Amino acid sequence: MTADVFEIGHEHEQVVFMNDPATGLKAIVAIHSTALGPALGGTRFYPYSSTADAVQDVLNLSRGMSYKAALAGLDLGGGKAVIIGDPGTLKTEGLLRAYGRFVQTLNGRYYTACDVGTYSEDMDHIARECSYVTGRTVAHGGAGDSSVLTAYGVFQGMRAAAGFAWGTDSLAGRTVGVAGIGKVGRHLVRHLIEDGASVVVTDVSSAAVERVREEFPQVTVAASADALVASELDVYAPCALGGALTDGVVEVLSARIVCGAANNQLAHPGVEKMLEEKGVLYAPDYCVNSGGLIQVADELEGFSFERAKQRATGIFETTRGVFELAATDGVPPAVAADRLAERRMRDVGRLRGIWLR
Ligand SMILES: NC(=O)c1ccc[n+]([C@@H]2O[C@H](COP(=O)([O-])OP(=O)(O)OC[C@H]3O[C@@H](n4cnc5c(N)ncnc54)[C@H](O)[C@@H]3O)[C@@H](O)[C@H]2O)c1
Repeated sequence: MTADVFEIGHEHEQVVFMNDPATGLKAIVAIHSTALGPALGGTRFYPYSSTADAVQDVLNLSRGMSYKAALAGLDLGGGKAVIIGDPGTLKTEGLLRAYGRFVQTLNGRYYTACDVGTYSEDMDHIARECSYVTGRTVAHGGAGDSSVLTAYGVFQGMRAAAGFAWGTDSLAGRTVGVAGIGKVGRHLVRHLIEDGASVVVTDVSSAAVERVREEFPQVTVAASADALVASELDVYAPCALGGALTDGVVEVLSARIVCGAANNQLAHPGVEKMLEEKGVLYAPDYCVNSGGLIQVADELEGFSFERAKQRATGIFETTRGVFELAATDGVPPAVAADRLAERRMRDVGRLRGIWLR
């Protein structure tokens, strides 16, 4: 490993390496913070080119989860796990159950869930060895596919942004560009159309485009994400991969609002300032995409979709609060969101210092 994990992970509480050569399991769990409760975050199963890359990714992702949970008002800390390898060839019942036994040894300091490369059925396998699992299938008492409330929450954040920018919470009559119409993007298109927006979509998968066109013949299709951002939009919703907001995208963007589901949308620190200087209202990614976390977190209380949906509705108020603090403090919304999350981690986290027997 090129970097010292204690140096690059100096903010993190704990980083655990798990190794089971017989099944090929190589996993890393990073617990960034348990200030607000047990760390919750998904397990990413991905063929990292090096252990150093996997360490860097799990450290970044777990830190992001602390902020997401804190801003969403959950009693959860931030953690994340990665399993190194190609899930298409390496994933077996044995590997998942070995992983489950290792997660069990953390005794509830870390709860796992689905992420890139892992699905609810995988969580069911892990749960056969481990009590600290969310995102299981509905048949096993789980919350199932988290993209439903992720999309709903993004829509709530977008309504709050519309209210702030235009004085009306409705997207009716606005043109919204959705880049990436996978699990989340597809549900978002439905909310937008029901609200009366004109929707332009793009996806690298023609199957994804066809599916959406079949369901919603009124959507327009752009040839690429580049073509979409360069077209006349009121709102841009990045719902594919991270890093969508580059200097080049900000330069050509005509949208007044950016609000989408993708994690880590800002390609580098400083893009949030460029957006602000251009008059683009950016709804911070982890603020508006916390609906999925809210959905799987609800499983810890015995899953109720209605209760989780009600909590995800709160993303509207949270997003508005972020814009209001940004205006008061004279900072971009991304900075305001960090301030609110850090404030809650500090103010609520310190209560653990009141000793209880
Ligand atoms: N699923 C959730 O609950 C959830 C929660 C929080 C955040 N997110 C984030 O939201 C984003 C979407 O998640 P998802 O679950 O819908 O994933 P997904 O894999 O189902 O969908 C992503 C879609 O983006 C498309 N895509 C990839 N590269 C593209 C490009 N360059 N241009 C256009 N389209 C492209 C893919 O073909 C796919 O259809 C991801 O960044 C994810 O991390 C998801």
